[in-house]
Amino acid sequence: MIILGLETSCDETSAAILEKDNGKIKLISNIIASSLPLHAKTGGIIPENAAREQIKYIIPVIEKSIEGITIEKIDAIAVTVGPGLMGSLLVGVETAKTLSMVWNKPIIPTNHLIGHIYANWIENEKIKLPAIGLIVSGGHTDLILIKNHGNIKWLGGTRDDAAGEAFDKIGRLLGLPYPGGHIIEKLSINGNVKHFPMPSPMIYSKDFDFSFSGLKAAALREIQTIKQLNNGSISDICASVQEAIIDVLISKTLKAAKKYKVKSILLGGGVAANQKLRDELKVKASESNVELFVPPKSLCTDNGAMIAAAAFFNGRPIAFDKISANPQLYFD
Ligand code: KG4
Ligand code: ZN
Repeated sequence: MIILGLETSCDETSAAILEKDNGKIKLISNIIASSLPLHAKTGGIIPENAAREQIKYIIPVIEKSIEGITIEKIDAIAVTVGPGLMGSLLVGVETAKTLSMVWNKPIIPTNHLIGHIYANWIENEKIKLPAIGLIVSGGHTDLILIKNHGNIKWLGGTRDDAAGEAFDKIGRLLGLPYPGGHIIEKLSINGNVKHFPMPSPMIYSKDFDFSFSGLKAAALREIQTIKQLNNGSISDICASVQEAIIDVLISKTLKAAKKYKVKSILLGGGVAANQKLRDELKVKASESNVELFVPPKSLCTDNGAMIAAAAFFNGRPIAFDKISANPQLYFD
């Protein structure tokens, strides 16, 4: 079976072709156009600007993704229907509807968050269920229990800022370019976590919720007490912020893995590209006899391949006139 996956929920425009053969998912193409340089100028995403760029990119990106593929061989079109920015989602959904009608292919509406976790199944058939999924992106921080394909239970999530959002907002306070996550990771290498210790919010709470807005306030207080930020103090704050975020993510993920006696932990979302998070979670998971799966870094940030992968396992094809974008879509 071959699926064309489309993803336009935020600032990326992506189309991918994946083939499922004998239970194995093969990545044939994954084309991503990003309007990030535009958003770096405004220090964050202005939704209308993102959607305008996606209108320009969507057709060339699809054309490139299907190069060398005959349309007859595509069995279905998977598209992100939510959550995300309304204007951006509409670009993907309306394009999918049009292609569905013209090519006479079914559409598989797909949840962006589930897509982040299913990036783990691309070129990998070793995952054993049940599993705990940790989605850490710019807009979301959620823990889910995947009992089986199509049987997903939400365990908890952030009460305010998402983990990636915390990286980005603290990056802005430090005068770093947007998005701050990977820059904070880089600067942390030379930082000393003892100089500006930061709290790991809610690390001892009994639930599976997170909160990162207090960390942002703590970082702001430290920045305001320093008369002149220099490379050394910026690196120190970056290291402390990164450690505070990673510690709470790992602690709650392991607590969930233990409670639900899972076989695997699956990481997904842009923040999953963070090497320290990947390395430390791997060590802690193996100490708990749970196997950790993390997508290659290129499949952590938004992409069409993860949407097609999720559709292979969770998708129900529907008629093109029954599908609509839902910015508030969650786990239900
Ligand atoms: O999944 P994604 O591409 O978009 C959303 O669905 O939100 O995630 C983007 C987020 C941004 O907040 C970015 O700062 C963060 O992922 N990010 C990182 C790293 N690379 C990207 N955060 C920490 N460390 C990284 N290496
Ligand atoms: Zn995402």
